[in-house]
Amino acid sequence: MVPVSTPTLSPEQEALFRLIEDTREHVFVTGRAGTGKSTLLQHLAWNTHKQIAVCAPTGVAALNVEGQTIHSLFRLPIGLIADSEIEQSEPARKIMNAIDTLVIDEISMVNADLMDAIDRSLRQARRRRAEPFGGVQIVMFGDPYQLSPVPPRGDELRYIQDHYRSFWFFDAQVWAGPRADRGAIRSDGLLDLGRVGAPLHIRELRDIHRQSDPAFKAMLNAVRHGIVTAEIADALNTMGARTPPEPVDGEPPIITLATRNDIVNRINQRHLDALTGPVQTARAEISGDFGRGDTYPAEPELQLKVGAQVMFLRNDIAGYSGDGPRWVNGSIGTVTRIAGGSVRVELDGEEHDVEPTVWERFRYAYDPGSRKLTRDIVAEFTQFPLRLAWAVTIHKSQGKTYDRAIVDLGSGAFAPGQTYVALSRLTSLEGLYLSRPLRPSDILVDRDVRRFMAAVRAAAE
Ligand SMILES: Nc1ncnc2c1ncn2[C@@H]1O[C@H](COP(=O)(O)OP(=O)(O)OP(=O)(O)O)[C@@H](O)[C@H]1O
Ligand SMILES: [Mg+2]
Repeated sequence: MVPVSTPTLSPEQEALFRLIEDTREHVFVTGRAGTGKSTLLQHLAWNTHKQIAVCAPTGVAALNVEGQTIHSLFRLPIGLIADSEIEQSEPARKIMNAIDTLVIDEISMVNADLMDAIDRSLRQARRRRAEPFGGVQIVMFGDPYQLSPVPPRGDELRYIQDHYRSFWFFDAQVWAGPRADRGAIRSDGLLDLGRVGAPLHIRELRDIHRQSDPAFKAMLNAVRHGIVTAEIADALNTMGARTPPEPVDGEPPIITLATRNDIVNRINQRHLDALTGPVQTARAEISGDFGRGDTYPAEPELQLKVGAQVMFLRNDIAGYSGDGPRWVNGSIGTVTRIAGGSVRVELDGEEHDVEPTVWERFRYAYDPGSRKLTRDIVAEFTQFPLRLAWAVTIHKSQGKTYDRAIVDLGSGAFAPGQTYVALSRLTSLEGLYLSRPLRPSDILVDRDVRRFMAAVRAAAE
């Protein structure tokens, strides 16, 4: 596999890389959007000398970091796990015994129950029941001010309420002792979340690489913390609430970030219908077990027309040859030709012939011969790395970077962090188009995140 080229790490990223590499401490790497968390994770995956397994809570997030989903890595049942027996196959046990470090991306979407199941699985498999995570180092990446776990309902909700302070990963029992002990700050500045739990090093990356304008960074920070003053709202609305320009030939088109799937599909379909010319459908080739439809990395049936606005779903592989990538995950262009098994896409004034690519679903296995973990391909999904991109959901835009976007909050943001995720995708305020002015009710901050991060900041002072 080709290594992903990442930017040279900044000093604070480098320091964290060393902390992870040179110690066995559990680390939670957090920081505002665009501080280079994912960049650091990629660098770690390619440069560590440890035996690591990389995983993530959702299929899409796992594909992003070329890892496995948490559920498949640990062979966990779907839904609440609570204190039910965890069945482990021999291969799963071997994997858990082979790793030094478990890396989890998008940790904000992991709930407390799952965090504790990971702990229990590792203790059980490694037969080190008294040690948190059976002695494995846990390294987590994410920003709790962005999108949260799926909220539990019904019996699950009742269970969580009875056993946990909140459903967030940071309130898992493994980190926590008796409730009264929570948030104790030790003399060395470490936030010790409890007497019997594992100590967790929380490190915040501070330098933002995605945006450079200090005024825009300050506005985003206010949205993140739910402290938007009338003045800030005014500045965002005066600048942002305006009609987007008509598409200009040679200029990249503008994407809409919307709250719900139905809005996104409607916008994409409306634009596709408005184009003259025939629709062409590209069917994905799927081999092996690629899971259910909602875990597909691209459309199983991609409908395209000449003139369609599309987004790339992967980085350009051919770019590693030396000229630099022709596109990256998130680049937006226009279809100019569909023929002969390829789709021609105009991007920044240049045309490229795009071929189908293969997404590989990985599974870790243990090789007793070399006593090393191997990563096997268990399924493949072949499709053009493109999707219609007049609009995407804000949830799907998490992690991405855009120069220009229309933010459509429709009838209102409904999840904590949603508006922050949308606005923080933009590299500058000049690229922001709001389809309607922001309302105070669009800005939602989770109460438990506020509480946890306040304790983190107090510990850092
Ligand atoms: N050390 C660096 N030097 C230059 N550019 C960097 C550096 N680190 C990250 N970047 C760039 O900054 C942008 C944001 O980085 P990245 O996506 O890793 O941030 P993130 O913290 O994961 O953001 P989010 O919370 O939105 O997922 C990317 O375009 C990335 O290439
Ligand atoms: Mg990221």
